[in-house]
Amino acid sequence: MKNPFTIKAYESRELFCDREDELSLMLNNCLNHTDMTLISQRRMGKTGLILRLFDEIADVHPEIHTIYLDIFSSRNIDDFIKLLAEATMKSFKPKTSIGDKLMTFIKSMKPQLTFDNITGEPQLQIAYQTVHEKEYTLRGLLEFLDEQGVHIVIAIDEFQQIREYPEQNMEALLRTYIQQTRNLTFIYCGSKKHLMADIFTNEKKPFYSSTTFVSLGKIEAAPYSTFIRHLFQENGREIDDEAIQFILEWTRRHTYYTQQLCHTVFADGSQHIGIDEVKAACKQLMQQGEAVYLQYRQMLTVKQWSYLIAIAKEGCVQQITSAQFLGKHHIGTASTSLRLAEALCEKGLLNDEATLDGTIYSINDVFLSHWMERL
Ligand SMILES: Nc1ncnc2c1ncn2[C@@H]1O[C@H](COP(=O)(O)OP(=O)(O)OP(=O)(O)O)[C@@H](O)[C@H]1O
Ligand SMILES: [Mg+2]
Repeated sequence: MKNPFTIKAYESRELFCDREDELSLMLNNCLNHTDMTLISQRRMGKTGLILRLFDEIADVHPEIHTIYLDIFSSRNIDDFIKLLAEATMKSFKPKTSIGDKLMTFIKSMKPQLTFDNITGEPQLQIAYQTVHEKEYTLRGLLEFLDEQGVHIVIAIDEFQQIREYPEQNMEALLRTYIQQTRNLTFIYCGSKKHLMADIFTNEKKPFYSSTTFVSLGKIEAAPYSTFIRHLFQENGREIDDEAIQFILEWTRRHTYYTQQLCHTVFADGSQHIGIDEVKAACKQLMQQGEAVYLQYRQMLTVKQWSYLIAIAKEGCVQQITSAQFLGKHHIGTASTSLRLAEALCEKGLLNDEATLDGTIYSINDVFLSHWMERL
């Protein structure tokens, strides 16, 4: 029996919980050609939501085409073009009118076209003579898509990666080309929320104010518990309400961790799941993570490590400069606390959540946080 709790890529709407409001908002934005930026804490479900949206579009608006590309592995503009061209080829199959035109267009780029011998997916290698030629190809590809007379939604995941490119003008180039298109709607998504915010909210940057923001919070407790109960029951298992509540509280409804705990509980195979079975799975997950947590310890300074423990013991901290927090955990001055928090956010270990009452800090990895509570 297949484990119904996904911990990898999006699989199907049946295994995807809620997000109805975000989904209808994003769908509406697509229909209105409004470009979007999707931001959230890490592992909250951004990528899953985009793929769920594309599933919905295929169902309800089959006239809209969708292209998804993840540029995390790209290192420069060449890689970007390659990933965009490959994703486009996946979207417009050969022997369709656009697919055939696309093939002709791609061939004009004089690429070496190969097919992955495992997945069968197309892979391109393009040799450029000059920088100008690259820019021309990128613009040409976007223009080609725009000219097909169909509405295309293009999602670019891990978009902040363009900041790593040696070509300093990538943001400006892309913004200029995109601005000229009429039939393309873009969704930008990224896991480094500070970089993403800088790209889209810094008035000195090309993408400033060019999109509407969709922020992704936690899934509400009620739909998540219904979802969990349903998936266990559908697979011939029983789970107590108390056990579900414990899962949601312990994982703080942080999607990846909630899914991972449910996945582990399911994999353990009990027919009837009570709180003891859940606690055993929690223990198992913390033990599994231990080798990595000890690696973190080696990577951090003693002060940073102690600071993480302090945050873990509090669960989350609203006032990292309060005398109470500084004194209780022997942190030192307020500026030391701010500096440590900033460094740990930079490393992706801490999350800072801006709220009306100030910034709340917590450890990103829920399992690490629970493991550290005990130190
Ligand atoms: N609504 C949902 N219902 C069930 N599972 C979900 C849901 N959203 C996300 N997931 C699962 O949770 C995990 C994390 O989600 P996802 O990878 O989409 O997060 P992300 O925000 O893109 O993370 P990152 O910041 O690392 O890019 C994945 O395994 C995904 O399949
Ligand atoms: Mg993602």
